[in-house]
Amino acid sequence: MSFTVAIDGPAAAGKGTISKAVAAHFGFAHLDTGLLYRAVGRRMLRGELPLAAAQSLGAGDLEGDDLRGPDVAQAASKVAVIPDIRAALMDFQRAFASRAGGAVLDGRDIGTVICPGADVKLFVTASPEVRAERRFAELSGKGLDVSYEGVLADVRERDARDADRAAAPMVAAGDAMVLDTSELSIEAAVARAIAVIKAAR
Ligand code: CDP
Repeated sequence: MSFTVAIDGPAAAGKGTISKAVAAHFGFAHLDTGLLYRAVGRRMLRGELPLAAAQSLGAGDLEGDDLRGPDVAQAASKVAVIPDIRAALMDFQRAFASRAGGAVLDGRDIGTVICPGADVKLFVTASPEVRAERRFAELSGKGLDVSYEGVLADVRERDARDADRAAAPMVAAGDAMVLDTSELSIEAAVARAIAVIKAAR
């Protein structure tokens, strides 16, 4: 039996942390769909045509610490406006979502476009400042050379590009539960997400 949890939201909202915790709790598989766009963006930065990259992604494309950095994030949100690129990544995401045993996918358009029939939809958000603080702590903790101001600018720029694009814009699905984590600890946010999923199972 498949059971799909869609977790969407703006940059650095905590989708990844919540998704991982939820997947571990219920024994579901987890796909961070942002990594697919980041992988395409990174190959574009290396000089490849983004569509050709999207059509030929392999496991090795999802490795490397630079994949999580702000330069690749910006490139990801630039390739993510291109409808053909989104289409090239769709089948893989949908197949993952319908696997037996349950799946959690996090991204921007999971509840709206990739899995409109998902069993549970969450839209995780927080203020840009809180998100930038969390992402700054994460990236500087990994040894990346970033500043808080730079991370905040990246978050704001990507949010605007992701929300304003014509193809699969970032927006909460009408039937998504909005989880604002600005004033919630990560443990409290995870507990809320688990409670919502339990109620739907
Ligand atoms: O981790 P963070 O929230 O900062 O970003 P991400 O989830 O890794 O996504 C990187 C970029 O990929 C986003 O800014 C979006 O432009 C794009 N993306 C998308 O368009 N659709 C998705 N389902 C996931 C990511």
